[in-house]
Amino acid sequence: MSNKMWGGRFSSAPDAIMEEINASIGFDQKLATQDIAASMAHVRMLDATKIVETASANAISTGLQQVADEIAAGTFTFSRALEDIHMNVESRLAQIVGPEAGRLHTARSRNDQVAVDFRLWVRDAVDNLDAQMHALAQALAQRALEYHDAVMPGFTHLQVAQPVTFGHHLLAYVEMLSRDRGRLRDARVRLNECPLGAAALAGTSFPIDREMTAKALGFNRPTANSLDSVSDRDFVIEVLAAASLCSVHLSRLAEEIVLWATPQFGFITLSDKFSTGSSIMPQKRNPDAAELVRGKTGRIIGAMQALLIVMKGLPLTYSKDMQEDKEGTFDALQSLSLCLAAMTGMIQDLKPDVVRMKAAAGTGYATATDLADWLVRVLNMPFRQAHHVTGRLVAMASEQKIGLEELTLRQMQSVEPKIDGAVFAVLGVDASVASRVSYGGTAPANVAAQARSWLARLAKDAKQGAGEEKKA
Ligand code: ARG
Repeated sequence: MSNKMWGGRFSSAPDAIMEEINASIGFDQKLATQDIAASMAHVRMLDATKIVETASANAISTGLQQVADEIAAGTFTFSRALEDIHMNVESRLAQIVGPEAGRLHTARSRNDQVAVDFRLWVRDAVDNLDAQMHALAQALAQRALEYHDAVMPGFTHLQVAQPVTFGHHLLAYVEMLSRDRGRLRDARVRLNECPLGAAALAGTSFPIDREMTAKALGFNRPTANSLDSVSDRDFVIEVLAAASLCSVHLSRLAEEIVLWATPQFGFITLSDKFSTGSSIMPQKRNPDAAELVRGKTGRIIGAMQALLIVMKGLPLTYSKDMQEDKEGTFDALQSLSLCLAAMTGMIQDLKPDVVRMKAAAGTGYATATDLADWLVRVLNMPFRQAHHVTGRLVAMASEQKIGLEELTLRQMQSVEPKIDGAVFAVLGVDASVASRVSYGGTAPANVAAQARSWLARLAKDAKQGAGEEKKA
């Protein structure tokens, strides 16, 4: 049998392989809610503009509601022969309503339908991700306040560099998440234009009201160019780019959690809820959730790259290549959502070992910069000379396998005679972090203030609600 939707032009059915490569219903049934919402808006507009008579429009609306109910109840049978979600819905509608259902497709095409459905889906995903990023930022800021003065080693090159506080380290990720949310919100503003009514590519001769459908579906305005409307997938790529960068941030935090949870570091213990055991080694506590957050970055960035590659050689306007936009996007945004949830759980539950962290902060001559700064401040030495003197003292301590603060005053004076006993005050890690009072620095007082300010901003943000955007 030839296809119901375009059977007029065809005399035989597609090859089985054709059906298999062509059909998207296996994955685009995820767009069912959006597809029906867009059809509802479209038919109300067809009624208001008198393109379709009210009685037919009402019958179509009621029928669409029944289709929606059947899908929600799980009684709807999706058919691969009907290719995609748009034709599955429309075909069922025709069974319910009869031939009048055929009026729904006046002044539209699957090209603008899929564009509007996918925008609606991505917009929901963006709003949910934003709420999840907000929750993670809140968890991080809470833990940061709790540990604003817990000293740990700060690293460069993964070598101990200078003491910092655990709270300060956690707040670094709050900054990243705040930028991630900013990127999502920027993308949402550009995304929030309605392509419905572009029809196949050229617009339509019917007197449609695109402002009306745009408004009904919560868009800021209709898209301005019909060709661009059906061929644009920037809105997905931008969101995948923002998601990729967020996943990179989560992956870096995950990597640190993996390191910190090793017996060698011993900085944190993950709760039982976020650890796994080994089937052979009874002593093991593995940070699988953190490893998976790190690992899922691959598929999220992969989805962005895949879509960029799909789009790069496409002539305007729609080509079926674009059907490849969905699976990767669904997978990537759902994966990011899972990663955010897992990371929030891990952060809320992890137990820092502040004693071990502090001890580690004292190793590796982490206060050498404090000593050099003291030579500059107190002895008025040029910094480069102070750096050199400190280097000699570090070498001396290292030869004796002791810490800087364990050198005697006499030993220090053998390198620089003007050093006096007051120097010992800056060699401890607590004094070191307390001295870093410059704006953005790690001093516990700064960190507590920053954490409080983030918590206040995040609380205000939550009241505004996810998905709020400034009207562009
Ligand atoms: N399933 C299609 C997609 O996902 C819908 C649009 C089909 N348009 C067309 N002209 N064949 O892209």
